[in-house]
This record gives sequence, C-alpha cells and structure tokens, in this order.
Amino acid sequence: SNSENFVIALDGGSGTGKSTTAKIIAKKLGITYLDTGAMYRAVTLAALEKGLPAEEGAAMDELLSNLTLGFDSENHVLINGVSRESEIRGMKVSSNVSIYCALPSVRAAMTKQQREIGKKQSCILDGRDIGTVVFPDAKYKFFMVTDVKVRAERRYKELLEKGEKVTLEEVLNNLVERDRLDSSRATAPLKKADDAIEIDTTHISIEQQVQKILDYVGVVA
Ligand code: DC
Repeated sequence: SNSENFVIALDGGSGTGKSTTAKIIAKKLGITYLDTGAMYRAVTLAALEKGLPAEEGAAMDELLSNLTLGFDSENHVLINGVSRESEIRGMKVSSNVSIYCALPSVRAAMTKQQREIGKKQSCILDGRDIGTVVFPDAKYKFFMVTDVKVRAERRYKELLEKGEKVTLEEVLNNLVERDRLDSSRATAPLKKADDAIEIDTTHISIEQQVQKILDYVGVVA
C-alpha cells in the first residue's frame, strides 16, 4: 500500500444520492469507486436464488465462501463473473437486503473485501458503516441526509425509467423500512460517524453535492 492513498467514506440512508455523487467524485479525482451496497445486494440475490433463509449457519458460510464478487468497468457488480445489475436493483432484492446484510457473517465477509480494496488504492466507498466500521480512520468522511419524500420521488423515477412496475408508496415504504432496519441492527448499524461532515441534499443538485465534497477534499477538479 502507498502512504499517499486515501479513503473517502460516504455514508447515509437509502436513496440519498450517495452512489451518483460517489461515481462523479471518483471520476473527477481519478480514484476507485466502491459501491458497498451493491455487494450486500449481490449476497442477497445469491441467497434468495438458493432459497437460503436469512440466518447464520453452515449454509450461509458456504454461500459466502463460494461467492466471488467483482466489478466491471461500469462499476456493475459481477457475481461469479456475471453482471446481475438489473436484478440487484429491483424491488425483490431491495425488500430483502436489510435482513441478509444484518447477519454478522455477511458483514464480516464484505467488510474484509472492502478493506482489501480500500487499502490498495485511493478510493471512495459509499455505504452505511464505512466511516464508523470499515474505515474508521478514513481521511474524509461524509454523511448524506435527504428528506424522505424527495428520496422516494427520485428513486421512483429511476425505477420507472428502468421499466420496473412499482408505486411511489412502495418505494417510500421500502426506503423507510430499510433505514429502520439498517439503523437498528446490532452489527455496524447505519450511523453518522462523530467526525463525519453532514450534507443535506434535500434542496441541492447533484452538481452541488459533488462540489461540496470536493471543497472539503480540497481538490480543484
Ligand atoms: O446503498 P444501497 O441502498 O444499495 O444498499 C443496499 C442495502 O445494503 C442497504 O439497505 C443496507 C445495506 N448496506 C449496509 O448494510 N452496509 C453498507 N456499507 C452498504 C449497504
């Protein structure tokens, strides 16, 4: 590892625009983007396809040890080499991910991979526990918050554009329920790190969110 490598931790609730922001920042800074939520979504999809219940045990351990996650050049998650992007973003996975990702074995496996990637190169990771657990010593930490109605409307539009049949109410309920489960789990809950900078994105554009972070990082991009 290189002593000049740095980590930007970008945490926050569901649908706060973390991934869109992180992708742009990674590109501007020429660093790696790691979508940690996609990793939990991938585990969830794999478990659902195997019919595995969300519980600890030999079956879950075996699934985790046989699961190879990767990312392609567009940052789409690869499960054993295959892009499953549209499935991991659908409502089926969104409705189940918070129970699977709460399992300590799942979190341990993902946290280990995230640390390995983050130690090798400068990167921006978006998630729920990056600033608190995965990289508590990250050089930069941000925590994004957004009014839930605004989040639901943004996510609803995205899903409609992808042709998914959902209602605004379902999307809103899913965001609220995921945040409730993600904040209340025992292991690595969704939480602002004490030293993270909070960014409220309710009334600002993506460009403004990006600029705020770049201002703190002190890079003229
Ligand atoms: O970022 P996302 O909405 O795609 O994440 C999907 C789920 O994964 C989210 O509801 C909680 C979980 N997650 C997590 O527990 N820890 C992370 N670092 C990232 C995501």
